[in-house]
Amino acid sequence: MDSWLQGCDASVLLQGNGTERSDPGNRSLGGFQVIDSAKRMLEIFCPGTVSCADVVALAARDAVAITGGPQLQIPTGRRDGRLSAAANVRPNIIDTTFTMNEMINIFTAKGLSLEDLVVLSGAHTIGSAHCSAFSDRFQEDSKGKLTLIDTSLDRNYANELMQRCPVDASASITVVNDPETSSSFDNQYYRNLVAHKGLFQSDSVLLDDKRTRNLVQDFANDQEKFFQSWSQSFLKLTSIGVKTGEEGEIRQSCSMTSG
Ligand code: HEM
Repeated sequence: MDSWLQGCDASVLLQGNGTERSDPGNRSLGGFQVIDSAKRMLEIFCPGTVSCADVVALAARDAVAITGGPQLQIPTGRRDGRLSAAANVRPNIIDTTFTMNEMINIFTAKGLSLEDLVVLSGAHTIGSAHCSAFSDRFQEDSKGKLTLIDTSLDRNYANELMQRCPVDASASITVVNDPETSSSFDNQYYRNLVAHKGLFQSDSVLLDDKRTRNLVQDFANDQEKFFQSWSQSFLKLTSIGVKTGEEGEIRQSCSMTSG
């Protein structure tokens, strides 16, 4: 998410009124403490050297490697932005209800291709989601029970989701993105898509749209191909709008600008 608005500059970490982090569109972001504690250690051993933007990019890179995904080297030297505005969040964020064309438009505006969209969505092989992120696939009937409206979804999987996320489910309930191998970074996400078990509508559409279907099938059949593509697309993602030289700063604490 950080790479998306001002570029990969840790602007999403800044706290305060009206920042990107304060926008409801970023409400489900977490892990800020992990970034803060890595940064605190760095400031003890090597003050003023490693930016928060590099910490975020390296943490994402390491999360993939630790869960069994490809191990990559990525360039460092990003500088932290001083600007962070909530008003930038909505027009740039991709909602799970977006059509393929809407997703392509936002990716293209960031210099990412249709292939990058398919590849980077593969991150949904790990992690979890709140019920509200896929509630658009169901509707409440007159008896207050959920029914499936998105018939592209596998029936049994849909039933499991409706059981986990009934109408009166608490807003804090989450389900894993990839129920088969929820904490492994592998190509199971694409196998799930082929089996019509994509969690978000924005996942399922990658199989339904003929522009992306072949690539989904290729990745489902060939994990090595996914890993190679991942390495390239991740490098592109973490290079968007990077600040260098005199731009930005190296923050002392990731949640506040240094001034
Ligand atoms: C293509 C458009 C995308 C959409 C619409 C989308 C949407 C979402 C949504 C709604 C969630 C669940 C949030 C929640 O309810 O807590 C989520 C989770 C996640 N997304 Fe995406 N995402 C997209 C692309 C990406 C990309 C490009 C990456 C990384 C490269 C990514 C990585 C993740 C991860 C790791 C999680 C799990 C987070 C956790 O467990 O806390 N997503 N995504």
